[in-house]
Amino acid sequence: MGNKKILVVGELNVDLILNNIEGFPKIGDEIIANDMNLTLGSSSAIFASNISILGIDTSFCGMVGSDYFGEFIEKVLVDRGVDCSFLRKVKNKQSGVTVVMNYDQDRANVTFCGAMENLTIEDVPWSEIKQFDHLHFSNLFLQKNIKNDIVQLFKKAKDAGLTTSLDLQTDPEGAFDFDYAACLPFVDIFLPNKSELLGITKVDSVEEALDKISPFANQVALKMGEEGSILVSNGKQTVQRGYSHSSFVDAIGAGDSFNAGFISKFLFGDPLIDCLKFGNLIGAINTTAAGGTGAFQSNSQLTKIAKEIFNQDI
Ligand SMILES: Nc1ncnc2c1ncn2[C@@H]1O[C@H](COP(=O)(O)OP(=O)(O)OP(=O)(O)O)[C@@H](O)[C@H]1O
Ligand SMILES: [Mg+2]
Repeated sequence: MGNKKILVVGELNVDLILNNIEGFPKIGDEIIANDMNLTLGSSSAIFASNISILGIDTSFCGMVGSDYFGEFIEKVLVDRGVDCSFLRKVKNKQSGVTVVMNYDQDRANVTFCGAMENLTIEDVPWSEIKQFDHLHFSNLFLQKNIKNDIVQLFKKAKDAGLTTSLDLQTDPEGAFDFDYAACLPFVDIFLPNKSELLGITKVDSVEEALDKISPFANQVALKMGEEGSILVSNGKQTVQRGYSHSSFVDAIGAGDSFNAGFISKFLFGDPLIDCLKFGNLIGAINTTAAGGTGAFQSNSQLTKIAKEIFNQDI
């Protein structure tokens, strides 16, 4: 069985993570963070980097600025084995940055979008799309120039014979303006978390939200933090408990790592429940090291964490 090829379309930024902060920021005051980490950020890049480390042949389509952070992002992706021939450097623009103020299980983020806003549907390599088996898109609401074409993007990928997955991520403006009835029929695996699902459906409970999207959705893998995840397929819901552990560092990127685990199995036609379990494992592994890619620097490091902390073979 040959390898599978995935094209990730999405946003790129670095994360500047401040840890161990003494108190909370206040206008006019200065406080101290005792640890700092400059690392690859962005939902799409964390997904791409980690699914590449899981052994999938991965290409990235996205935008960085013509600056040091853009070079850093490209270097990290290439080091992790991600093909960057569809990555563009936008002249006179800066790369995206997220400043993450991390407090135990949660965090406050400030994002400067920069070049990521330049990505349009025309930048997707449509003339070469048939070389790929799958297209994954992430972080819709930050990418203003592609947002209105999202239905068309997924339709074109499906028309070309690819399977598809979508992680919307949150909407900083809170509007969650997403036409799920038009888009989800072209999405094979929809990967929301609870607040995003409630956001797009404008209801208060997961049950009501799933009822609203189910006429349009194919498969849904709903992420529930340390509780695990829920698969919705063919009108049936399956709850899969998370892998609890005592080596928690932070949950930055756990959702993207879950996606990487799930899709890495889905590509080979594994049963969806196995995809879900593996998503939970890869999400949990993400939380044992700093940032979204700290536990995924190499396949051997990942295999070691899986064995030592979770007693699982990868
Ligand atoms: N503390 C934890 N312990 C074990 N597993 C976890 C923990 N946090 C997350 N996970 C695993 O990772 C998966 C994805 O995490 P989460 O539900 O936080 O995604 P998300 O809300 O999309 O996060 P993100 O901020 O990365 O987008 C969960 O479904 C779970 O399997
Ligand atoms: Mg998420």
